Amino acid sequence: MPHKNPYVRPDTAVLTRGFDPALSVGSARPAVFRSSTYVFTSPEAAERAFAIMGGREQALPGEHVDLIYSRFNHPNAEILEEQIIPLEPGAQAAAAFNSGMAAIMTSILAFARPGDHIVYTVPLYGGTQHFIHGFLEPFGIRGAAVRAGQTAQLAEAIRATPNLRIVLIETPANPTLVMTGIRDAVSAAAQLDPRPLVMVDNTFLGPAFQHPLTHGADIVLYSATKYLGGFSDMLGGVALTSDTEHIRQIKSKRGLFGNILQPDECWILDSRLPTVPLRMNRAGKNAQRIAERLASHRNIRRIYYPSLFDDPEQARIRDAQCDYPGAIISIDLKGGKPAAFEFLRSLHLARNAVSLGGVETLVCHPKSTTHSSVSEEELEIAGVTDGLVRVSVGIEDWRDLLADFERALDLAG
Ligand SMILES: Cc1ncc(COP(=O)(O)O)c(C=O)c1O
Repeated sequence: MPHKNPYVRPDTAVLTRGFDPALSVGSARPAVFRSSTYVFTSPEAAERAFAIMGGREQALPGEHVDLIYSRFNHPNAEILEEQIIPLEPGAQAAAAFNSGMAAIMTSILAFARPGDHIVYTVPLYGGTQHFIHGFLEPFGIRGAAVRAGQTAQLAEAIRATPNLRIVLIETPANPTLVMTGIRDAVSAAAQLDPRPLVMVDNTFLGPAFQHPLTHGADIVLYSATKYLGGFSDMLGGVALTSDTEHIRQIKSKRGLFGNILQPDECWILDSRLPTVPLRMNRAGKNAQRIAERLASHRNIRRIYYPSLFDDPEQARIRDAQCDYPGAIISIDLKGGKPAAFEFLRSLHLARNAVSLGGVETLVCHPKSTTHSSVSEEELEIAGVTDGLVRVSVGIEDWRDLLADFERALDLAG
C-alpha cells in the first residue's frame, strides 16, 4: 500500500499539506474563520486546552486540542503556520505575527531577560536597531554591534560578550547587501555554555534562496510584508524554528502581547505562499540580468549585487549560504544626491517608494528616507552614501525595466 504521506518537495507540500478540507466543510482552499472565541467540546476539553496553552501539559501526538480565543490561536493562523513550514527547509514550527517588527520583538523578548546581552550585526533594519537602542537597552538588555561580514570580529564578540543570550544576524544587510556567515556565527555560539540562540532575519533572500536553519541557526525571522506577502498590500511577520519548544515559548509571549496576525491577513498571506518561489525566481532572474548589464554604465560609481561581489570573503559567504543572488540591487551614482534624485524622477516604470519584495519594482533613496535617522558614523558603516539608490526588482519584463533604468541613468549624468 502506498504511504499516505510520502515525501514531496516544498512546492508540492505547500499546496498539499497543512490544510484539511474536511475541517472546512470540504472547501478546496482555506476559508476565513472570523471568530474571536471558540466553543469548547466539554469543560474538561477547555481545562486541557488551557493547560497545554499555558505550557503546564503537553499535547499528545495526534491529539485534537480545542481552540480557545483568537489572541492565542485561530484556524487561519494554524493553517498558515502549517503551510509555510515546507517553504523553510529545516523548520518544524512557525508563528505568524501582525508585522515583521512584531515577529522580531516577540522572538527576542521570549528569550532575553534584563541583564542578558545580544550581539547583532550592523547595518540592521532601522526598526530593529531602534528596538535595541530605544527599548531593549533601557529595559536592561544590552546590545553589542558587529559590522556585517566581519567573521573574526563576530566570533570574538560572541566569545567575549557576557551573559550572551541571542546572536541576531541580518544577512544580506540593507542596503549594500553585505553578507554575514550564518554557519560561522553558529560555530562560535556552539562554543559557549549555555549556548546563545542564533536568530537570522531572512527577509531579503528567504525563503527561496537562503535557508539559515540548515546552517544551524535556531530561529528564522521574516517581514512577511515583503516577499512572502509579495504584493505590497499587507503587513505581516513570521518566526520559524527547528525546535518546537522555541515556537511554544514565542507563542506564549505572542498571546500576552496580542500581536498575532488576524484571520483575514492570515488567509491572504496563506494564499500567497504557493507563488513565493515563482515570484522570487522571476524577480531574481530579472535583477541579475539588469544588475549585470547596468554594472558598466558610465554614471554608476558602484553597483551592489551578490553575483557582482569582488571581495573574496563576501564571495565565500555568498557561495556557502545563498542559492541565488536575489532581487535587490543598490546603485551608487557618480553625481551624488542630485544625480540620485534625477534618476528617481526620471523613471517611468519603477515607483519611488520604500519597502521591497513586491511584484512591482520599487526604488528609494535610503539616505533621505529609510536611513534618515541614522547617525553619520552608522551611515558610513552601512555604506549609505548621497548617491545610493536601492532597487527592489519586481516581476515585470526585465527588458522594459532595463530600458527604464538605462534611460534614467543617462539623464542622471
Ligand atoms: C530586513 C527587514 N526586517 C524587518 C523589517 C520590518 O518589517 P515590518 O515592516 O513588516 O514590520 C523590515 C522592513 O522593512 C526589513 O526590511
